[in-house]
Amino acid sequence: AHQWQGIIREYGDLLPEHLRTHVVTLGEGGTPLVPAPALSRRTGAQVFVKVEGMNPTGSFKDRGMTTAISAAAARGAKAVVCASTGNTSASAAAYATAAGMTCAVLVPDGKIAMGKLSQAIAHGARLLQVDGNFDDCLDIARKLAEVYPVELVNSVNPDRIEGQKTASFEIVDVLGDAPDIHCLPVGNAGNITAYWKGFREYAEAGVASRTPQMWGFQAEGASPLVKGYPVDEPETIATAIRIGKPASWDQAIEARDTSGGVIEAVTDEQILAAHRILSAEVGVFVEPASAAGVAGLLMRAERGLVPAGARVTITVTGHGLKDPQWALRTLDGADVEPQKVQVDVMSVADALGLV
Ligand code: F0G
Repeated sequence: AHQWQGIIREYGDLLPEHLRTHVVTLGEGGTPLVPAPALSRRTGAQVFVKVEGMNPTGSFKDRGMTTAISAAAARGAKAVVCASTGNTSASAAAYATAAGMTCAVLVPDGKIAMGKLSQAIAHGARLLQVDGNFDDCLDIARKLAEVYPVELVNSVNPDRIEGQKTASFEIVDVLGDAPDIHCLPVGNAGNITAYWKGFREYAEAGVASRTPQMWGFQAEGASPLVKGYPVDEPETIATAIRIGKPASWDQAIEARDTSGGVIEAVTDEQILAAHRILSAEVGVFVEPASAAGVAGLLMRAERGLVPAGARVTITVTGHGLKDPQWALRTLDGADVEPQKVQVDVMSVADALGLV
């Protein structure tokens, strides 16, 4: 029977040679592109969500980590390092383990979701909580990799971008052409850079007839690309994108401008409302940051900026189980308590309103 072989083997001829000589894979990619009628209805567009939480460690980072770790392994690297808001560290730890390497991760103290922390530790990473934010962690990781024998596997590593661009290939392969608009959350801006590269390459190769507009969305309290200057103390409940100084700043602006797209901010309330719609109306459970693309599309639809019938794809970047607490709170902040019942059929039937 056929099994998906991971993005390097599936898309090898579209990736640089040096990524293919020593493949380290956990079977990443091949994620579902799910039609979202609830979002189509609300926007008048034809909306699909690319469910990246279905990757082996539960986020899109695995696409870039198979390539970054494979390249590092081919060079004989023994150790890797990354800064992370959580998902990169979970992914780096898993792929480093698969490659027999050691992995060090720097995370902002107290600001990463429990599921992600738990993954990095489970996979045996040396996890250090830095008394600072993600941007501080990345500064340190970059300097460490310059001076010591450890390879940096953040998205400033071009091998990461090569892997992550395959998500665009998959979207075009499934739809038969590029969408009109592609929406996604933006934090450190590696992913918008990668998607734009993928869409452009498929258009240049003639696989797609065009490229989509790239619509990127940042959390309002962490929206340097929207403001036009770095944010010293980024704040948002969407901890994955709590970033004030995106490393791929110029590439994100380039993707926005050459695609005719936008980068805008959504509030934490809009993110949580979109999170709720995804889980309760579409059937896809994501972590808060992952709902930013949906929040942005809904915001622009309300302003009349989504063309009727447009084909829209949205990357939902990470799994809801990474950071599950948000489902257990109402939008106005009250705790959701599961109802308790007696051990008998009548009380259950009664509680369910069946009698
Ligand atoms: N969504 C999720 C769930 C993420 O974890 C990230 C980034 C993004 C969106 C934004 O992607 O940085 O390429 O613009 N997480 C990084 C990390 C920073 O360390 O896991 P980006």
